[in-house]
Amino acid sequence: MATVIMIASGKGGTGKSTVATYVATELAQKNCRTLLIELDAGLRSIDVISGIDTSAVFDIGDVLQGRCDRYKAMSVSPYTDNLSVIAAPYNSYNTDFSNFKQVTDSLYDDFDYIIIDTAAGVGNAFYAACKSAVMGVIVVTPDIISVRDGRLVSDEMYRNGVNDIRLIINKFAPDTFRYSGYDDLDAVIDGVCAQLLGVIPMSRQIAVNAISGSQLTLGSQEKIIFSAISERITGKEIQIII
Ligand SMILES: Nc1ncnc2c1ncn2[C@@H]1O[C@H](COP(=O)(O)OP(=O)(O)OP(=O)(O)O)[C@@H](O)[C@H]1O
Ligand SMILES: [Mg+2]
Repeated sequence: MATVIMIASGKGGTGKSTVATYVATELAQKNCRTLLIELDAGLRSIDVISGIDTSAVFDIGDVLQGRCDRYKAMSVSPYTDNLSVIAAPYNSYNTDFSNFKQVTDSLYDDFDYIIIDTAAGVGNAFYAACKSAVMGVIVVTPDIISVRDGRLVSDEMYRNGVNDIRLIINKFAPDTFRYSGYDDLDAVIDGVCAQLLGVIPMSRQIAVNAISGSQLTLGSQEKIIFSAISERITGKEIQIII
């Protein structure tokens, strides 16, 4: 039965789609059957980051509106057979997410993990994802606005039935962190009040990959960090290294 995980944030641009794509890729590369769905209608990006932008014909809006079967909207990742991706709708008009849980329920036996990338904040896609998800991952950047908004979204997830909430601190750079208003990363964790899943550095490789849709380089620090995050999601205890 699939474990459904939603990725969320308060502030936009914290790295949700990046995190969702690389976590899903790592799970797939560890032989977990993984489905990645983006719900950010009108502002899609996972199709490019995951490298399926030229093969995706249908999207989750087509599935929800009954224009195509859910399997037809899936594109297999060019990097790993175990990862399928459903893109977000191209535009934001008229996407009704009310049937979304039926879609994820119908895929329970086909996948081990379903990763849902939501839009920033708490819109329709967020509430639809809360109905399906058992785990929520809040992605924040280490600054006061992102952390404060992350806490609000975390609380809202909890109120909507997502009990297992984890935290990823993204775009961490020690030199700028000095000006963040936080003494250390523990203060960031306390600010969101969720269990830490990982800390991802500000990375040139990640920024470049977002444009070219490439994979993380084997042996790179980024690849090791995402691999460890995916292992923690599967329940393994691996020390967090920053
Ligand atoms: N660790 C990182 N290092 C450098 N750049 C990063 C990192 N994480 C994400 N980025 C870049 O930040 C930008 C925003 O990332 P992304 O699209 O994943 O955020 P998002 O939270 O999904 O945004 P939105 O709220 O618009 O959906 C992208 O250009 C991405 O490449
Ligand atoms: Mg996004």
